[in-house]
Amino acid sequence: MSSVTLDHVTKRFGTAKGVEDVHIQIRSGEFFTFLGPSGCGKTTTLRMIAGFYFPTEGRIRFGENDVTTLPPNMRNTGMVFQNYALFPHMTVFENIAFGLQVRKLSKSEIKERVERIQRLVHLEGYGERRIDQLSGGQQQRVALARALVIEPQILLLDEPLSNLDAKLREETRFEIKRLQVELGITTIYVTHDQAEAMAMSDRVMVMQGGQVQQIGTPSEIYHQPVNRFVASFIGETNLLEGTVTRIEGGEVDVRLSPDVVVTGLAKNASPACQPRVGEKLTLSVRPELVKEWEGEETENLLRGRILLSEFTGACVNYITQAGPIQLRSMLINLGRSVKQRGDEITLLLPKESIYLIG
Ligand SMILES: Nc1ncnc2c1ncn2[C@@H]1O[C@H](COP(=O)(O)OP(=O)(O)O)[C@@H](O)[C@H]1O
Ligand SMILES: [Mg+2]
Repeated sequence: MSSVTLDHVTKRFGTAKGVEDVHIQIRSGEFFTFLGPSGCGKTTTLRMIAGFYFPTEGRIRFGENDVTTLPPNMRNTGMVFQNYALFPHMTVFENIAFGLQVRKLSKSEIKERVERIQRLVHLEGYGERRIDQLSGGQQQRVALARALVIEPQILLLDEPLSNLDAKLREETRFEIKRLQVELGITTIYVTHDQAEAMAMSDRVMVMQGGQVQQIGTPSEIYHQPVNRFVASFIGETNLLEGTVTRIEGGEVDVRLSPDVVVTGLAKNASPACQPRVGEKLTLSVRPELVKEWEGEETENLLRGRILLSEFTGACVNYITQAGPIQLRSMLINLGRSVKQRGDEITLLLPKESIYLIG
């Protein structure tokens, strides 16, 4: 197992920017995810770690070893590609054995290692099947087995679940996580699916337009996003804009509309946020933190009418129009009656659930 360091790595394709100044230290045994929309530079970064691209600037180290310009076959990484890149006319056994044959291991050792890895990914008995006789989920496991059989120091996975249907995707993500924990292998995972990233990762690097936006645990990027992009890309949120009217005693008042002023806490703010009286400020409030209010008058209430009511079983989702403000809320189903479109509702934005973005 090995740590992975990207030391101010930039990759340009001619004049086009691939990724810019990526600086990360991935710990040995960590499950680390690159997350962001299509084209943000995830694959480019992963391919530099695998050795398929060399950086234009910066260095890459595995542990203490500088691997910046080593070819892929000298790096001992196992990679699963988005399209799996299996050999369709070859058998499962032959596909998994490929990397070991290249390394010129003995026949008996190849057989033993392939069979062991087949058991690990639950493909025992499938050795003689051809790839084109397998389901998508089974092909995915062959790709994983082929990457793991060489006993890599680092496992690299590029959107490995994107070809599977929703249910299988969820099952397989638990399976990958189980293997990673069992083997304790440093794993770098690429996805554009924020739920996948949150569920699987020790830490996540959020990227946009070739630039790193934030690195943190799933909880950190969810609760303390550094900017609007991260706040809205990770989970759902309400982004509310207003003007600061008061800063006092650790509180910040923001006028959202002529009738609505809400109070947040100055400490619930992104690091770059510096609210000033008279200036604009964006607030983020997660739908699941909005409450329905039936008590007495208090601060931070919004009154409005329901535009959309959605009952999902465990939750009731509303979109409420309160003056010029539209607010999403996700209320746990406590057996209360569900309000319908057109009904009036009063919502509470608890002070501590308001996050100041800047
Ligand atoms: N071989 C290449 N030649 C030129 N531009 C490339 C090449 N590979 C990637 N890019 C560009 O680099 C950027 C990042 O691409 P990529 O890493 O594939 O994004 P992602 O995997 O996040 O979808 C994109 O703008 C893409 O067009
Ligand atoms: Mg990609």
